[in-house]
Amino acid sequence: MSKSPVLLTRRIPSAAFARLDAACDVDLHDGSLPLTPDELKRRVKGKHGLICLLTDRIDGAVVDAGLPDLKIVANVAVGYDNVDVPAVKSRGVVFTNTPDVLTEATAELTWGLILSLARRVTEGDRLIRRGEWRGWALDFMLGMELRGKQLGIIGRGRIGRAVAAKAPAFGMTAVFAKHDMSLDELLVSSDVVSVHAPATPETRHMFNRRTLARMKRSSLLVNTARGAIVDEDALVWALKENLIAGAALDVFEKEPTVHPGLLPLENVVLVPHLGSATRETRTAMADLAVRNVLAVLSGEPPLTPV
Ligand code: DGY
Repeated sequence: MSKSPVLLTRRIPSAAFARLDAACDVDLHDGSLPLTPDELKRRVKGKHGLICLLTDRIDGAVVDAGLPDLKIVANVAVGYDNVDVPAVKSRGVVFTNTPDVLTEATAELTWGLILSLARRVTEGDRLIRRGEWRGWALDFMLGMELRGKQLGIIGRGRIGRAVAAKAPAFGMTAVFAKHDMSLDELLVSSDVVSVHAPATPETRHMFNRRTLARMKRSSLLVNTARGAIVDEDALVWALKENLIAGAALDVFEKEPTVHPGLLPLENVVLVPHLGSATRETRTAMADLAVRNVLAVLSGEPPLTPV
């Protein structure tokens, strides 16, 4: 029997690739840049499955180009703001994401960012590399202690809850917006605000001039969710006006472009979308996407449908 043709828009870890390759006829785009929309439409033609990444824009036109053969679109990410899900599903095509497997990795990075920002780790690293360290001093580069402080979490999904679960280890009290208190109450009372919500029309620019101005002047904002949730123009303004004390960002509005106003600011930690970037997690994400494709192409239900 001939193998089902599947388009894979980027190289994935070898264990997951081997599983896919054993069962399917894989058309791999091995380039360092994502496929252009036209290339995507051309190469999805005749494919039964499409495994894509968050750097691919999947809309109705891409799905139409794959019909009538396309049965499943499997996104190697838990977030799917790169995919027009109603367009995929309304055409009878299954859509899956990769929940659970990246929860801990993203929660760990979030804590890494909170600690880096509160204790000025990357700022100190830059200072040493510039050759500007003049020695230990009692009042040098003082940061904020986490113990006894409030961590306000936006989004009570898997990752938000995993971040909250680690708060007691640092002596912090975690509270969730909408669950424990209103967003406004959370903003005015939290010392660290961490974003773990999906990017939707409702959460777009949830952090804007008005909400940032509600935060404590001593507070820190951390975003490992999606860049669109924070209005970067407003964030630069709030940081320059000292309306908040710092920000740590793993995600950006126009990745890989970073707002130029953030770059000179010492009280900002910038990380290139690494939330799920551990060997273990990226392998598990790719493997889950592959298993979703194999299930659907063999007539079984998907493991993690959206
Ligand atoms: C996701 O899965 O949505 C993450 O952003 C990938 O790192």
